[in-house]
Amino acid sequence: MKVNKVNLGFYPTPLHPMTNLSRHLKGPRIYVKRDDLTGLALGGNKTRIIEYILGDVIRMGADVVVATSGIQSNWARQITAAARILGIKPVLVLRTAQFKGTSIDYTGNLLLDYLMGADVRIIEASIRDNVVREMQAVADEYRASGHTPAVITDEPVIGVMGYYDCSQEIIEQSARLGMEVDYVVHATSGGPTQAGLVLGFAAAGKEVKVIGVNSGVYDGATTISRIRSFIEKGAELINLDKEKLPSTIDVLDGYGDYGEATKEVIDAILLTARLEGIILDPVYSGKAMAGLIDMIQQGQIDAHSNVVFIHTGGVPAVFAYKDLLFKKSQSLPSSYP
Ligand SMILES: Cc1ncc(COP(=O)(O)O)c(C=O)c1O
Repeated sequence: MKVNKVNLGFYPTPLHPMTNLSRHLKGPRIYVKRDDLTGLALGGNKTRIIEYILGDVIRMGADVVVATSGIQSNWARQITAAARILGIKPVLVLRTAQFKGTSIDYTGNLLLDYLMGADVRIIEASIRDNVVREMQAVADEYRASGHTPAVITDEPVIGVMGYYDCSQEIIEQSARLGMEVDYVVHATSGGPTQAGLVLGFAAAGKEVKVIGVNSGVYDGATTISRIRSFIEKGAELINLDKEKLPSTIDVLDGYGDYGEATKEVIDAILLTARLEGIILDPVYSGKAMAGLIDMIQQGQIDAHSNVVFIHTGGVPAVFAYKDLLFKKSQSLPSSYP
């Protein structure tokens, strides 16, 4: 496999125990993999994926990258930072998504996009709308002034290698800590993160159950079929015998629509902040934590297992939910941690 990777992040990210949270939940042993600390303008999971995707963009000679997502997108913020490091112009076609019909608050990820000087085009659209036409129109504008834009409409398969790498870090770090990982839990959405993890553990012959908690961009069935497609194409990339792949893909649903901050998710954010001093967000990592807490409380993850929770980042989005989070943090009983 020929890979055009660029190095943008700082690895390995730490893996450390969440002792207070484990005690509070009466087991299992929960470790956190700090992919909120990957680098790229406040970090997150997309840094690992972008390293593989932008490698190809650079090789093709592009001097502009056009990307799309929601207005509070971590992907958009990290691709903007990556483009700046690589000396190419970041252009973002951002869908109003969860802010549809309301006024846009220039905070969180969106503020950071502007700080880094991205050419931001905001369009009134849902996160699921197809905006390829708008992206091509912006690319044409740049072409007309002599540029060579690369348009990234969906994430290419090569991105799975980012979380293949992460799985190998987890294997090495857990061996050093003297523990066998039983579960990996993280936020899932478009699919490359979960697919890369599944491929990496399978390639290493490790029986680790990877559970993605759905962010709600796609419904459960669509999310699973996207992840399956990434896994199958990724297995071809790395020449992995498909017999070695797990037969099921575990996606946990029920934590709200995309950008919807449900009560369970807000509770999970506050609990993690107060017990561990770690900040999760309402769109992704908070949902993943709410899912993990439910699985533990419902006995689906037993008290003697070892769980790695991957903090996939998303921290800047907290500021887009400031009123809700502030009010909730002030209304907690004094007995709360
Ligand atoms: C913070 C965070 N966590 C998890 C995900 C899901 O990653 P994937 O699209 O690879 O499933 C995203 C996607 O944007 C994200 O921003």
